[in-house]
Amino acid sequence: MSYPIPTPYEWSTTLDIGNAELNEQHKKLFTLINALDAKRSCGTTLKELLDYVVFHFKTEEDLFAKAGWSESASHKETHDKFVQDALALTSVGDAEMQFIKQWLITHICASDMKYKGVI
Ligand SMILES: [Fe+2]
Ligand SMILES: [Fe+2]
Repeated sequence: MSYPIPTPYEWSTTLDIGNAELNEQHKKLFTLINALDAKRSCGTTLKELLDYVVFHFKTEEDLFAKAGWSESASHKETHDKFVQDALALTSVGDAEMQFIKQWLITHICASDMKYKGVI
């Protein structure tokens, strides 16, 4: 399942997952993805995005592990897979930007939404 990429690529209230800290982190991910889109290179901007992605995933994982959420392990697997795929990028062009933008929006709408009200 995939969700349409919004234009402009920004956080909106339809993406509210019911946790202020995580909403703020999601907003920052949109900002960093737009910065990467403007730069289109594998240098510092991609590294900044990936560092923040890892930090955000850890925040989510700690929160839902603490809540004893039944889908913790499978959700973490989707995080790990994205990090693995993103680390393997050797260039940043249209296809790669499409992949990253699509992944975040779909992950929030289809996966993060599942822990709404749980953490
Ligand atoms: Fe998230
Ligand atoms: Fe997540």
